[in-house]
Amino acid sequence: MELNSLLLLLLTALVCLTSSQDSCGNRPLVGPPGSSRIVGGRDAPEGAWPWQVSLQLLSIHTCGGTIINNLSVLTATHCFLKFWGRKRLFRVVAGLRELSTPGGHAQIRFISEIRSHKGYNHVTTENDLTLLLLSSPFNFTDHVQPACLPHDVRHEFILNFSHCFISGWGTSYYKGEHMNTLQEAEVELIDRRKCNLLSWYGGRITENMICAGLESGARDSCQGDSGGPLQCYSEDEERFYLIGVTSFGDKCGVPRRPGVYARTSRFADWLKTNQTASVSAANRLNTRLISALLSVVLMLF
Ligand code: ARG
Repeated sequence: MELNSLLLLLLTALVCLTSSQDSCGNRPLVGPPGSSRIVGGRDAPEGAWPWQVSLQLLSIHTCGGTIINNLSVLTATHCFLKFWGRKRLFRVVAGLRELSTPGGHAQIRFISEIRSHKGYNHVTTENDLTLLLLSSPFNFTDHVQPACLPHDVRHEFILNFSHCFISGWGTSYYKGEHMNTLQEAEVELIDRRKCNLLSWYGGRITENMICAGLESGARDSCQGDSGGPLQCYSEDEERFYLIGVTSFGDKCGVPRRPGVYARTSRFADWLKTNQTASVSAANRLNTRLISALLSVVLMLF
C-alpha cells in the first residue's frame, strides 16, 4: 500500500513535469473569448493576458513583449534601436495590469541576452523581431503564463482562429500618453492583398508581416504597444496563439492604415534556433529530475 502511494506520487510528479513543458496559451483566470464585440480599447480584466509583459527602460514602460517560455520573451527589434548593448538598463515585468501599482502578482526579471533578428531593416521594418533571454526564469502562476506559437505557416492556416486581440499599455491616440491599465481590443486579421492596395499600405506589407485592425481604424495599437502580442484564440485547441508582434503603423487608428505585426509563423525556424540555448538550459534541469524520478521508480520494482 505504502509502495503504491509512493509510486502514484512519483508518477504524478512525472506527469506534471513533462506536461508543464508544453502547456501554453491558457489563461486560468478568464474564460474563452465571448462573441460580444468591443469598440476601441477597454481595460483588460485581471489575468486576461498572462503572457503580456512590460519592457521598461529605467523603470519606464517603453514596449510590450510576450512570454514564450519561462526564460524567453519575444518583442520588437525597433524597441532597442537607441539602446544597443544596454541590456542592463532594461527590465521585464510580468503579471502586471496597472503600471503604477504592480501588486503581488508581478514578477520582475532582467535581461541576460538580447537576440535581435539579423535581417532587421529599419527602412522597411522587415524582421522586426527580438528574443530576450532572461537572467532567471519566470514562475508560471495564474497571472504569468506563456503564449503558444504556431509551428509554421501551414499550422497558422489550419488553426482556424475565431477571435484575435491586441493588448498593451500604449497610447490611446497618436502622440498621446501611455495608459496605466492594460488595454485590450478585438481586431480582425486583414488579408495581405487588401492591406497592400494603393489606398492602404501600397505594397509595403511583405509575407513576413500581418495586418490587423478594422478598416475604419476604430481599433488599433499605438505608440508603446510595440513588441506586444497580436493573439488569436484557437477554438479547436481552446488556447491562445501569438500570431503577431506589434511592429508599426501609419500614426494610429487611421482608416485603411491598420497596425502591422511581425508574423510569427514565418519566423518559426529563427525562433527554434535562437531559443535553443535558453530552453535547453531549463530542460536539462527537467530531464535530470525526470531521470532521477524514473530511476527511483525502477529501483522500487
Ligand atoms: N511603433 C509603435 C511602437 O513603437 C507601434 C505602432 C503601432 N501603430 C499602429 N498604428 N498600429 O510602439
